[in-house]
Amino acid sequence: MSKSAWNTIIEPFKIKSVEPLGFTDPKEREEILRQAHYNIFKIPADKVLIDLLTDSGTAAMSAEQWGALMRGDESYAGARSFFVFEKTVRDLTGYREILPVHQGRAAERILFGFVGGKGKVIPANTHFDTTRANVEVSGAEALDLPVPEAWNFHTGGSFKGDMDCEALEKVLKSKGKSVPLVILTITNNSLGGQPVSMKNIKEVSRICKKYRVPLFLDAARFAENAYFIKLREQCYASKTPRAIAQEMFSHADGCLMSAKKDGLVNMGGFLAMNDPHWAQKAREIEIIGEGFPTYGGLAGRDLEAMSQGLQEVLDEEYLKYRIRSVEYLGEGLQEHGVPIVEPPGGHAVYVNAKEFLGHIPPERFPAQALVCALYLEAGIRTVEIGSLMFGKRNNGKFIPAKMELLRLAVPRRVYTQSHIDFVIEVFGRLAKKREKIQGLKIVEASPILTHFTAKLAPV
Ligand code: F0G
Repeated sequence: MSKSAWNTIIEPFKIKSVEPLGFTDPKEREEILRQAHYNIFKIPADKVLIDLLTDSGTAAMSAEQWGALMRGDESYAGARSFFVFEKTVRDLTGYREILPVHQGRAAERILFGFVGGKGKVIPANTHFDTTRANVEVSGAEALDLPVPEAWNFHTGGSFKGDMDCEALEKVLKSKGKSVPLVILTITNNSLGGQPVSMKNIKEVSRICKKYRVPLFLDAARFAENAYFIKLREQCYASKTPRAIAQEMFSHADGCLMSAKKDGLVNMGGFLAMNDPHWAQKAREIEIIGEGFPTYGGLAGRDLEAMSQGLQEVLDEEYLKYRIRSVEYLGEGLQEHGVPIVEPPGGHAVYVNAKEFLGHIPPERFPAQALVCALYLEAGIRTVEIGSLMFGKRNNGKFIPAKMELLRLAVPRRVYTQSHIDFVIEVFGRLAKKREKIQGLKIVEASPILTHFTAKLAPV
């Protein structure tokens, strides 16, 4: 869909500064994995060859961004860098109240700190894991309402990130008073990085207005979502990604943003909204935990880099390369018979481990087993989105997640097509010996965000 006249994906940048990759041998990797208790978060990064753990905070900054760092004003209050940042975010989103935060989950903690609480329900197309955690820690219920086709990993579908509008209306009709806001995660990270259509954003917005419930976007990957709209929603084909993004924001009342994704920075984020009363409450909480509201846990230079990144990310050549290179990875895996969530997402390809490793039951964490196998094979680091992340324990009984996925998240502007070719080649080898991959069991785990700290062992 996003193919160009050429097969080679030309990265729309040249490289000025490089970092060495961490080469290891198979024996070393076996030992490293054992010492990390089969938890990929515990592996030192210099023992990783290609790091597809996350696209978050891992982007390469541009020369313009590095230059912008020097312009950072480090005044405690009212820094010039804040006003530069505020103008950038206002021009992009149209929201009046802009609060910088150090990363997305800080915005979540602040927002649910005053809108959440016992008895409240927060519907979303799908909550990301930290969003869900922040909703639940506040005492509220995080309710996922994706469209049913989001669960069918084999059907193409242009906008499988959409929210189920019928289900949303039902919830608002019956529980409207306990719903402080509705969230649309663009793109839908937890269910395949699939985009949300403008049609769906508008319809969700209409329903929210009808029941007088504010709509917030979780905008971490807003630019990728905007580009998908340009590619797949005909009436937007001639619009710029920026104009599309502005329209997306215009249908909502505010947003949460982890700028570590489409902000093209290694740290940063913001909370933005129109309601001055909510903004007042948010600032009160922000001062306690993040810092004064004109810096929100960031240095002035971070605000400058973020302003620059938020503009660069909407460059059409960049987005074309970005979406096509992830799609290329997906195609390569499929050529080796690796089942993926179709179509590939904007920032990542998701392998369906339930299918790929059909011999491993969910309680033996097939996706985590595949994560470990991929590291063992060639030092590639990925992440599990399955029962380790979302499985629950109820009175000693294990309730598996609905999906067992392995996510290959592609950092922005970091790897070239040949790195991606290598990942595809490794998968080709793994596909041939998949029956040999063994399941895992949990040895030690904490109840919240288990996957970050759990210790596992092979069975
Ligand atoms: N919302 C979405 C959709 C996300 O993907 C993330 C983070 C957050 C919120 C939280 O932002 O990390 O800046 O606090 N996703 C990362 C990932 C961690 O790997 O997908 P954060």
